[in-house]
Amino acid sequence: MTGHGLRGGVTAVLAGLGTCLPPKVVTNDDLSLVLDTSDEWIVRRTGIRRRHVIEPGSSTSVLAAEAGRRALKSAQCDQADAVVLATSTPDMLCPATAPEVADALGLAGIPAFDVAAVCAGFVYALATGAGLISTGIAERVLVIGADTFSTILDPTDRTTRAIFGDGAGAVLLRQGEPGEPGALGPFDLGSDGSLSQLITVPAGGSRQRASGVPAAERDHYFTMQGKPVFKQAVTRMTESSRSVLARAGWTADDVDRVVAHQANARILAALADSLGLPPHKIASNIDRVGNTVAASIPLALADADLRTGEKVLLTAFGGGLSWGSTVLHWPDVVPQ
Ligand code: COA
Repeated sequence: MTGHGLRGGVTAVLAGLGTCLPPKVVTNDDLSLVLDTSDEWIVRRTGIRRRHVIEPGSSTSVLAAEAGRRALKSAQCDQADAVVLATSTPDMLCPATAPEVADALGLAGIPAFDVAAVCAGFVYALATGAGLISTGIAERVLVIGADTFSTILDPTDRTTRAIFGDGAGAVLLRQGEPGEPGALGPFDLGSDGSLSQLITVPAGGSRQRASGVPAAERDHYFTMQGKPVFKQAVTRMTESSRSVLARAGWTADDVDRVVAHQANARILAALADSLGLPPHKIASNIDRVGNTVAASIPLALADADLRTGEKVLLTAFGGGLSWGSTVLHWPDVVPQ
């Protein structure tokens, strides 16, 4: 699906950016003490050196609220008309986590809901927030990506534990003009449910419960088929990027920086190659945070040292399968 997200000259403009990482850091050497892995393997195959994880007692909503608070501060604003939270690790299966986040921010009463599109979640949430603005439903939308995959990983799975980290990032979108720095769009969004089994948490939803047979304990853990996911990530992000660039009237050469979902440094290198871009144009902070799922793009935006006016391409891919891309000229915002 593609769209300009514009109606009657009204569009969503990125006006603030905030992030939150939990204080606890787990290095590759820490993992190698409890799993059959090594710093050398993880760095060579993924580019990841460390990741942040929450402590017991914390949860996704805590990180999400703090990132949201900082995004509001960055935008020098204390109000929003809606909260859209991208997450696949909500505090509870029911209700959604976003209303609690809105309440924690002193925004109780406004619409607040979750969007679940795994690692593509932040781009889906951006499109949703932009839609609320372009249809006149809201003037300011707080869009947050937050995940705590450390809470659903199999403690004995060296592959997934090496990759994922916890975190949150948020942007404040405000109503603005299509031509101004920070104006979002067009968007490209897509999915392929025929490949849903490549990334799953099998139990905890309606399917395993409906049979009445208790789920096996390990079925509550996250599973991923690494090799096909790797190939799909490169293909889908490349195709989605090309699609959104064509709709924006940009060539790949026009792009100053690509801020892509941070899944694996080798995926980022392959994306640069397939788009014909030099590696330095692809922002990367994966060495410091790992794959933070829905938080990945806002965390990478905050670390990318973007200059006002730069042409930025955002692209993401994840479970579902789901993918999405959009573009913007970077606005004059100071990440908090
Ligand atoms: N340390 C040491 N060895 C590890 C390891 C680790 N942390 N993780 C996996 N291995 C082992 C495997 O067990 C396998 O061993 P075997 O040959 O004895 O069975 C070997 O390394 C090769 O595994 P393979 O899966 O072929 O490795 P890979 O080079 O494909 O890398 C991933 C694995 C997961 C890093 C890679 O496939 C990947 O990044 N996939 C995409 C992940 C992703 O993007 N997920 C999120 C979706 S957005």
